[in-house]
Parts: sequence; structure tokens; C-alpha cells
Amino acid sequence: MSDQGSQPDQPDQSLDKAARNLDAYRARYAERTAGMTASEIRALFAVASRPEVVSLAGGMPNLAALPLDSLATEVARLVSEDGQVALQYGSAHGVPELREQICEVMALEGISAHPDDVVVTAGSQMGLDMVTRIFCDPGDVILAEGPSYVGALGSFGAYQAEVVHVAMDDDGLQPEALRQAIDEVGKQGKRIKFLYTIPNFHNPGGITLAVNRRAEILEICRQADILVVEDNPYGLLGFDGKPYPALRSMDPDNVVYLGSFSKTFASGLRVGWVLAPLAIREKLVLTAESATLCPPTLNQMIVSRYLSTHDWQGQIKIFQEQYRERRDAMMAALEQYMPAGCTWTKPEGGFFVWLTVPEGVDTKAMLPRAVTQRVAYVSGTGFYRDGFGSRQMRLSYCYPTPERIREGVRRLANTLSEEMELVRTFGTVPPRSVPGPQAPSPDTA
Ligand SMILES: Cc1ncc(COP(=O)(O)O)c(C=O)c1O
Repeated sequence: MSDQGSQPDQPDQSLDKAARNLDAYRARYAERTAGMTASEIRALFAVASRPEVVSLAGGMPNLAALPLDSLATEVARLVSEDGQVALQYGSAHGVPELREQICEVMALEGISAHPDDVVVTAGSQMGLDMVTRIFCDPGDVILAEGPSYVGALGSFGAYQAEVVHVAMDDDGLQPEALRQAIDEVGKQGKRIKFLYTIPNFHNPGGITLAVNRRAEILEICRQADILVVEDNPYGLLGFDGKPYPALRSMDPDNVVYLGSFSKTFASGLRVGWVLAPLAIREKLVLTAESATLCPPTLNQMIVSRYLSTHDWQGQIKIFQEQYRERRDAMMAALEQYMPAGCTWTKPEGGFFVWLTVPEGVDTKAMLPRAVTQRVAYVSGTGFYRDGFGSRQMRLSYCYPTPERIREGVRRLANTLSEEMELVRTFGTVPPRSVPGPQAPSPDTA
């Protein structure tokens, strides 16, 4: 994963000029809006979501296996029995019963926590935004794996933080690369505010931090006085059913942990949480108050009811089975169809595969041609803050059926083979730059 493609070239100035002409309010915006960039591929997604296009782009969980009828009964019961509370404002800290249940969920990953230290958020995306808001001044540095989650890069950019990527290999974040990055940032006189990491079933990398590296990564951060922000929405979706020990379980005082019910229950409810040491937690509650007053009470109570009335661990097993079958379908199809010179990661859980294509092919430039051939993916450039990733793409297997995955990979392999032929005939297509991270749409998260 350290092979990031070639250096990006200069930003396209004509795009900048066009944006100026289009937006009459441009001169009035706060400086931080410069770091907020809309997805250049959003328009393409209107086309990509047509039924004839196989989308390997979206990160949408597959909710087909949820017990919708019994959930509907519980929600109706909740509103009729407890509606005065469920439809009322709540505390910014979150519903107490849910915070207790969240501690039980986290215990599966070896975390021992007190409900007071949990702050419920509207999805872990909100947690990410809050953490960045309380820690980062413009120009502060955040270390993050390269590639990293597009939504996190969006939040970091919105607070004008600088991202320094740290390379991964098949065992996740490389300790040596982390040491080097810390050294280099130190030499530049800049301040590192935290390491942002997705240790399990990485989005978009599809790889997991080896257990025997975890203590070393934590030790490096401790030595350098760097906080760790552990983002773990996929941790319970490992295909062998055994969760990895959370970084938070190994160093409670130096790790802020972000969790979510989006992938293990229902993303549309927007319920996630942050687990943080006391002092940080108090700042988080104040931040949540100023942003939303409180997370949606009804949604928190729906999650709480679901956890107390349904076999949620059994449901997670169903999700694991489903995603494993889809992962297998994608692995088999990649093996069968991909042209020589392509490599990809082999996820042991989660939703994503990270594919690297041969030198000369630019995955962003190729995307419209892939969509014409009725297959969509997300180009690697959106997952780097610095414009790398033009030889990579993220493929997701969470949403399409195994048959559609197989067909999608077949179409993608055809598109790639044609692209490689063009490169052989006309020479290397220069990589294009990306002005910043693309804001995630629900399709690309
Ligand atoms: C790594 C990572 N972090 C955070 C999120 C946001 O999740 P949520 O729906 O809880 O806001 C996602 C969603 O795709 C993700 O992949």
C-alpha cells in the first residue's frame, strides 16, 4: 500500500476561476470553506445508480437481513408507551440506558468503560467532526493512514488541519513509517494533534492492523505525546467472528474511540458514539450541545429497544455471513477476470477492497469510461489529502448481490484491459491532481 502512484501535478486553475464566476457569495465565506470540496464524482453517481450499472462504489450497508416487521412493532410500541420522552429533547450526553448498552457492545472488543465516558453522537461522522473541532487549529497536523476514510479527510479539511499520511502494508499501519512521519513533522516545527486510525477492516484499504503491531503503535504515540483517535465502525464485522482487541482496551488514557451502529444495525438512524477520557468527554458534550443540542432521542431509544429486545449478536452473525459471501464472490471474480499487473487487498471483514492498477492507468480519468461500460467504483484519489491514489480504486462488496459483484468485476476488468491497451499504444496518461478530499455522499461513504 506504500505504492501511491506518481506525484500529482498543479491544481487546475481554470476550475478555480469557473467556481469564482459561479458563486456570487464566494468572497464572504470563512477561510475554512476552502477545505470543503464537493465530490467531483457526485454527478457521475446519478448515472451510476441506474439499475443497469453495477455499483462497486457505494459503502451502503445491506439492510435486507434486518427483521423489519418486528422492528416496526417495537418502534410503534416505543412511541405509544414512551412517546413523551422519545419525542422530547434529551441531553447532549445521550440517553443513559443506551450508554450502558454501548459499554456492553464495546466489551466484545475488550473495552472496559463507564457509561459516563460515552457521548452519543449522530453517527461516528459527527464524533469525528467534534474531535477535530476540539483539538485542531488551522495548520495543526493530523497523522492518518494513506489512504484514509474520505469523510474523516473532509472533517479535517473543514477545520483547516493538515493531513500527513502514513503508509500501510498488509499488516496495517507501518510503525517505522509512523516514526518517520513524526520526526519529519517535528523538524518542520508543526504540531501533531492526533493519529487518526481505522485499525479493523480499513475503509478504503480493506486491511487490518496486526495484533502484534498494536502495542508498538500505541507506544510510539505515547512516547511522542500524540493522542490516538481509533475509528472502529467495522470491528464486529470480521469474517471469523472474533473481534480484535481495540486500541482503546490497551491504552484507555491515550485513545479516543469512535463507534457506530451504522454497519451493525441501521445507518439511517444516525447513532454512533465517542468514548473518551473524562476531560475530553466534557469538551465533547459542550461541542455536541453547540452543534445539535442533543442527538435525536427517538433514534437513540429505537437502538436501545433493539438491543434489549432483539438478538443483536445473532443479527451481527447474519451480517458477517452475508458480507463474507460477497467478499468471496469479489475475490473469486478478481482472480478470474483482472488483467495481469493488478493487485488487491484481501479483507478479513468489513466492506472494501483496495485495488492497484498497472503504471500509466489513471483510475479517475477511467471512471467515466467504466460507467459507460455499466460499472462504477471510487477512484483512489479521494482517499488521500495530497492527491495520490491515481493508480488505485476502492471496490465495495457490501451492497450488490454476489452475481452482480461477479458481473461488475467482469465489466471492470474489460474496461481496465482496454485502458491498458490505450496506455500501451499512446503512452502514459499523466495523473490528474485533486484539489482536496471529496466530501462523502451516502453513496461513497
Ligand atoms: C471508517 C469510517 N468511519 C466513520 C464512518 C461514518 O459512520 P457513521 O454512519 O457512524 O457516521 C464511516 C462510514 O462509512 C467509515 O467507513
